[in-house]
Amino acid sequence: MSTNIWSRWLRDNHPRGLGFSHRSGWFAFAEDQSRRPLRRLSMAELSKLGEEEREDYDECRRVWNVNMPVIRTHQLTAVVSVLDQVMYSNARDGGRIKGGVAIDAPPGLGKTTIAATYARRFHRRQIRRLGERTSAGHQRVPVVFVSLAANMTLKSLNRQIVEFYGHPAIEKLTAAKLASLATEYVGRCETGLIVVDDLHFVDFRHRMGVEVSNHLKWLANELPVTFLYTGVGLASKAFFNEGMTGEGAAMAQTARRTTLCPVEPFTITTDAGARAWSDVLAAIEQHIILADARAGMLTDHAELMFERTQGHIASLVSLVDRCCFMAINGGAESITPAMIRSTALDNAAARATA
Ligand SMILES: Nc1ncnc2c1ncn2[C@@H]1O[C@H](COP(=O)(O)OP(=O)(O)OP(=O)(O)O)[C@@H](O)[C@H]1O
Ligand SMILES: [Mg+2]
Repeated sequence: MSTNIWSRWLRDNHPRGLGFSHRSGWFAFAEDQSRRPLRRLSMAELSKLGEEEREDYDECRRVWNVNMPVIRTHQLTAVVSVLDQVMYSNARDGGRIKGGVAIDAPPGLGKTTIAATYARRFHRRQIRRLGERTSAGHQRVPVVFVSLAANMTLKSLNRQIVEFYGHPAIEKLTAAKLASLATEYVGRCETGLIVVDDLHFVDFRHRMGVEVSNHLKWLANELPVTFLYTGVGLASKAFFNEGMTGEGAAMAQTARRTTLCPVEPFTITTDAGARAWSDVLAAIEQHIILADARAGMLTDHAELMFERTQGHIASLVSLVDRCCFMAINGGAESITPAMIRSTALDNAAARATA
């Protein structure tokens, strides 16, 4: 086993990630400390590294560069402010109507990141204030994070909630048992926030979707818990259709109690927009480690960066990742306009640029 300082850094700071769909993965994310800073070597220092050291240092930089800390974009700040307002009223005692929040935006605008960042802050705060155990001695689980997948049913939603808490042998449980266990766990572990990521996988025009909607409403009524949904096109789906009758009435009630938060892409057509875009580029410049990086290597090309990404944060992050890859592999050790222009991009961004 090699033991240069870079391989040691890698051992302590290797990519983490068990996913959020289980309590252990969520706790690891929520309680994780940030990575130990990685030193930026100059071109001269880089040239002095031996072959293995160089390989390990480049791997360190890869891990570092692609794991950008969450940037406090204006989109994130706006959603956090709405969430804070909704959570403020939700201190109402049980039995009173509580609101939820739905982050609704096209793909790749940072919905999951915003939800996870908020939930992480809530998790840490609750544990700091109230302790790791509830007064009855159970492990406190302030947040449940469920990521939905295609063809979601009530049973699979409850199964995911119960699975999150780590209940054993859930395969054998009936739908009714899963539902009562989900409720029991939320109460027992004093969960205060349930994030339901990718709610668009529930088809609210279908009977199974209506069941899910009724159940979510029931949980929100019964338990002292706030729901945070994310999804694509929720406003245009039945989830937010009001004035429905019969079975759909529950959805209309959910819609009434849920505050919709859109997330817009960046724009550079206004001064404030251009400034916000430039601030994000500057934050990225600050983070990435290249030996010949210079201030302005991204901000000086803000328009080009915008043209390539249409102000979508997911496209921006992958553009930067690929430029870093080229800068390190090609030896330029800085990001140039030619790289920004020539980098292959995700389908949607590439089509919009063409
Ligand atoms: N505020 C931010 N700071 C840094 N990186 C971000 C930020 N927001 C999003 N990203 C990055 O952009 C990418 C897309 O973000 P995310 O997955 O949150 O988007 P999404 O809207 O949930 O996408 P989808 O609709 O595909 O689920 C991720 O790689 C994420 O790390
Ligand atoms: Mg997402």
